[in-house]
Amino acid sequence: MAIATGRQADKDAAPRPAAIGIRDVSKSFTRRGAAVQALEHTELDIAPGEFVSLIGPSGCGKSTLLKLVAGLLEPTTGSVTVDGREVTEPLPQVGVAFQKPTLLRWRTVLDNVCLPLVIDGDRRPESREHAKRLLEMMGLAGFEKHYPRELSGGMEQRVSIARSLVNRPSLLLMDEPFGALDEFTREDLNDELLGMWQREPKTVVFVTHSISEAVFLSDRIVVMSARPGRVHATVPVPLPRPRGRELRDDPEFYEAIRHVRSVLDEAKGGGR
Ligand SMILES: Nc1ncnc2c1ncn2[C@@H]1O[C@H](COP(=O)(O)OP(=O)(O)OP(=O)(O)O)[C@@H](O)[C@H]1O
Ligand SMILES: [Mg+2]
Repeated sequence: MAIATGRQADKDAAPRPAAIGIRDVSKSFTRRGAAVQALEHTELDIAPGEFVSLIGPSGCGKSTLLKLVAGLLEPTTGSVTVDGREVTEPLPQVGVAFQKPTLLRWRTVLDNVCLPLVIDGDRRPESREHAKRLLEMMGLAGFEKHYPRELSGGMEQRVSIARSLVNRPSLLLMDEPFGALDEFTREDLNDELLGMWQREPKTVVFVTHSISEAVFLSDRIVVMSARPGRVHATVPVPLPRPRGRELRDDPEFYEAIRHVRSVLDEAKGGGR
C-alpha cells in the first residue's frame, strides 16, 4: 500500500468549499415595465486563491454577476455561495471595487479608504498606516487630505481600489478597475496587483474588456456570451508565475491573447 504523502493526505481530507459557487443562476430586471434577462443558466466555481477574469460583450451581465457575489443583488433563480455559504447580504471578507468609483464627497481621500475599517470597528493605527501604504501603492502619496472633487476620474478610481483592499479581504471583486486609466498606469497597477496577490493570497474575480490584461493577470478567463449572459467557455492561462513585465514581450503571451480573442469572437457570434 502506498504511504500517504502530504499531498495524498490533502486529497483525503474533506474538500474545501469553492470560494465562489454559482449554481444555475438567472437574473432578470424590470425596465420600464419590460423584463430584461441579464443572466441565464450561469454556472461557475472559483477555487480559493484563484485569480479569474470575466470577459464578454457589453451588457452580458458581468457587473450583475459580481453584484450577486457581493450580496448586493439577489438571483432570480439559482444560488450563489461564498466559502460554501449562501450569500444573502454583503460579507465582511469580500472587498469590492465598482466599475464607477463611489467615493463619499465629504470625506478626504484617506477617510474614504478607511471607510471599511470604520464599518468593521477597526480603529488600530496600523490599519490606518496600511491604508496610507495602499494609497502610495496606487501612486497617490501626498493626496491623503484631498477631497474627491480635487481628483481626476482615474485618481478617484485608484482611491476606490485602495478602499477595496484596506481590510485585507480574502475575496476581491473588481469591476473594470483600471478601465479609466492610461495604458502605462494600467500596466503599473497590474504589476502592483499581481505582486500583492502573490504576497497576500486571495481569491480575485476581475472584470475587464482588455484581453491582454485578463491574460497577464489570470489563472483562468471566463468568457461570457452576449445577453442573456451565460458562461460560454473557461480558458486556462498556462503562463508560468510569478509573472513580471518581461512577460508582455513573450511570444507565448501573444499566443494566449490570440486564443482568448478567438474564443471571445465565438461567444459574440453565438449570442447574436
Ligand atoms: N438595475 C438594473 N435595472 C435594469 N436593468 C439592468 C440593471 N442592471 C443591469 N441591467 C441590465 O442587465 C444587463 C446586464 O448589465 P451589466 O451591467 O451586468 O452588463 P456588463 O456585462 O457589466 O456590461 P458592461 O461591459 O457594459 O459593463 C444589461 O442589459 C443592463 O441594461
Ligand atoms: Mg459592467
